[in-house]
Amino acid sequence: MIITVTLNAAIDKSLSVPNFRLGRRHRTVEQTTLAGGKGVNVARTLKTLGQPVIATGFAGGATGTRIVEQLTSESILNDFVRIREESRTNTAVHDPTNGQQTEINERGPRVTESEVELFRDKLLYLARGADIVVFAGSLPPGIDPDLYADLIRELRRMDLVTIVDTDGEPLRHAVRAEPTVVSPNVLEAEELVGHEFNDDEDRTIAVHEMRQLGAREAIMTVPDGCFAFVEEGGEPGLMRVRIEPREPVAAVGAGDAFLAGYVAARYGGRTASECLSFGVACGAESTQRLGAGLIDPHKVERLLPEVDVERLELEAEVS
Ligand SMILES: Nc1ncnc2c1ncn2[C@@H]1O[C@H](COP(=O)(O)OP(=O)(O)OP(=O)(O)O)[C@@H](O)[C@H]1O
Ligand SMILES: [Mg+2]
Repeated sequence: MIITVTLNAAIDKSLSVPNFRLGRRHRTVEQTTLAGGKGVNVARTLKTLGQPVIATGFAGGATGTRIVEQLTSESILNDFVRIREESRTNTAVHDPTNGQQTEINERGPRVTESEVELFRDKLLYLARGADIVVFAGSLPPGIDPDLYADLIRELRRMDLVTIVDTDGEPLRHAVRAEPTVVSPNVLEAEELVGHEFNDDEDRTIAVHEMRQLGAREAIMTVPDGCFAFVEEGGEPGLMRVRIEPREPVAAVGAGDAFLAGYVAARYGGRTASECLSFGVACGAESTQRLGAGLIDPHKVERLLPEVDVERLELEAEVS
């Protein structure tokens, strides 16, 4: 079983608005409403890929009820801690005339200490029947930024695989707790290691730096694939995985689809390069649809031959 953790779950509205302009009134031509938050998106894609997954986290108020009902209607197993304050609604406006996307994300509810404790108990209980736990997305405001780190330490003691996709302070704390895998995008990775990346050499060194910070394996997604420092058969290896970028319908959530693909393949016991390739194909496929976490598994299979894996040499300075 795979568990996805979404502490700041949401109702995600995606609106398609041609010629979107600030300060004007518009009509949407297409609109989707989905339960969201990164962990929820990952759970949706895992379910589509036929993997056993339970989504957990916090859900509050009428919006929280809607999140849970949406998941249930999609047959995504879920077990959320119900909280007093209202879960958030996020809005993404996509302009099909230029491909631009504008996102407005609410900060989310305040979660009390006793609600956090209820969550900890629930997660540790669910973890007894799980192999992989994915922590994805931001923390609600006011939550201790080392909550992910704490939970990772507890799960490591239970020998679970822990995978983290978040940013800022929670990511900084989480890597120090030595998770199995971290998987930020470029901006998140730059913030974590503390400098900008100008070329592929910088990006290669970056995944190594994330390992030095504590992660066992590190992946950095880029719009044409990823850089990764992984372990294959106990051996560390650097990989550059590429796909020809395509014109996106909506790029939001590509990272979540990547992560779900990666996790699905890993759960299926595939090699590191197969896991990364499958993730990259899922990320690419997801850019062709409006709505995070939506993929067509047949199209993913068709994209797979287009994914290229290059093994990079471990330079003396980074080995
Ligand atoms: N235009 C594109 N064409 C093909 N593949 C893409 C494109 N954009 C993203 N991808 C794939 O999706 C994966 C994740 O992309 P990216 O790094 O942009 O995610 P992200 O910034 O974390 O997105 P989000 O947080 O919105 O889910 C990449 O590994 C890449 O392979
Ligand atoms: Mg991301």
